[in-house]
Amino acid sequence: MSICSDKKLKRNDNIKIKKVEVRMVNYKEIKVEFDYPINNYTMSILNALEKKYGESNIHFDYNDNQVLVYLNNIDFEMFKADIEELSLNNNNNDLNKISNAISNIKSYGIKGKKRLYVGYGDERKTVNRKEKEKKREIFYYTRGNNFSEINNLLPDKYMDRIVCGDSKIILSQLPNNCIDLIFTSPPYNFGLDYEENEDDQHWEKYFETLFAIFDECIRVLKYGGRFIINVQPLFSDYIPTHHIISNYLMQKKLIWKGEILWEKNNYNCKYTAWGSWKSPSNPYLKYTWEFIEIFCKGTLKKIGDDKKIDISGDEFKKWVYAKWSIAPERRMKEFNHPAMFPEELATKVIKLFSYQEDIVLDPFNGVGTTTLVAKLNKRHYLGIDISSEYCSKAEERLSSFLF
Ligand SMILES: C[S@@+](CC[C@H](N)C(=O)[O-])C[C@H]1O[C@@H](n2cnc3c(N)ncnc32)[C@H](O)[C@@H]1O
Repeated sequence: MSICSDKKLKRNDNIKIKKVEVRMVNYKEIKVEFDYPINNYTMSILNALEKKYGESNIHFDYNDNQVLVYLNNIDFEMFKADIEELSLNNNNNDLNKISNAISNIKSYGIKGKKRLYVGYGDERKTVNRKEKEKKREIFYYTRGNNFSEINNLLPDKYMDRIVCGDSKIILSQLPNNCIDLIFTSPPYNFGLDYEENEDDQHWEKYFETLFAIFDECIRVLKYGGRFIINVQPLFSDYIPTHHIISNYLMQKKLIWKGEILWEKNNYNCKYTAWGSWKSPSNPYLKYTWEFIEIFCKGTLKKIGDDKKIDISGDEFKKWVYAKWSIAPERRMKEFNHPAMFPEELATKVIKLFSYQEDIVLDPFNGVGTTTLVAKLNKRHYLGIDISSEYCSKAEERLSSFLF
């Protein structure tokens, strides 16, 4: 039944006004105050809405200057559409006010397409969640960290720059606590043909070199800053790089915030590589995804200016679901770089985890995907790469945009 087609209510209809003051149990109650008594016409529409959605789901009572809404569960999108249509047709702002009051409720669950205002959380298994977390001691591995909460300014000579050199050396020249967000993908020791670095070292040497740079990254990260690493393990070497890196950063007392699965929908090896074909003796596992490991220094909360938030509600809702389906970068030949990540990946990370005007560092900047995306999204940046050729490309990419 559509309210609009069904509603042949006129302003003078003889509406029986309810004045129930008994508090309804098992309903969420919202008071909507007005500067004047609600008119009969608005009441007639509310009565019709109540009829459409069922009195057990939504129910209205009226006092002189207020409407009491009792909610159990409704399809709010449909309800809102009804109200919008009715308000528009009848120029009725009172209905809008009621709809907004319902919309602003912070705590409700979703069951099917319906908002659930009561009974939400009944099925939750954990009671006294906070106390239990305290007893278990969340992120206990960061206990005793001595991170300073005093953040420092990044010197001008590193602000919005591409710097060519070994990150261990360049980063050692930066002050403590001066970077808001680090987003990077290190070389993975796959044996790729980079311009400068060897990509086929013994694994122990590889991790030693990598972790010396990571130590600097932790030091330059602000208190509350985020260190986010895209890792693709070399599955064929049976080295779980993402676990080894995560374990190291936890030992260094960063908080592991979580992991995003980057689904690339491609195979990391030839489809015909089966290991032991059709035998359990040694089947080879195939992967179409990479990992994004997210760490925080000192605290999970990042302080920032609300006016510098640029993520939309829709983006937020989609991106906090931690599996991102993004095609791999297709222009690697064009840039002559063997291991770029796509701009979309950097955009999501940067908008979800930083504010505008924050400083974003990529210590393995390659041809500058992170620095370009940072600049496009009004962040400051510092990109470091050991190859002068890649650094020139990163500069070219930045200058190809008119900012
Ligand atoms: C996986 S790539 C990063 C690609 C980058 N995300 C992009 O989209 O262009 C790793 C980069 O690390 C650089 N690199 C390796 N060792 C380095 C070091 N010690 N200091 C700075 N850069 C280094 C390599 O030259 C390579 O470009």
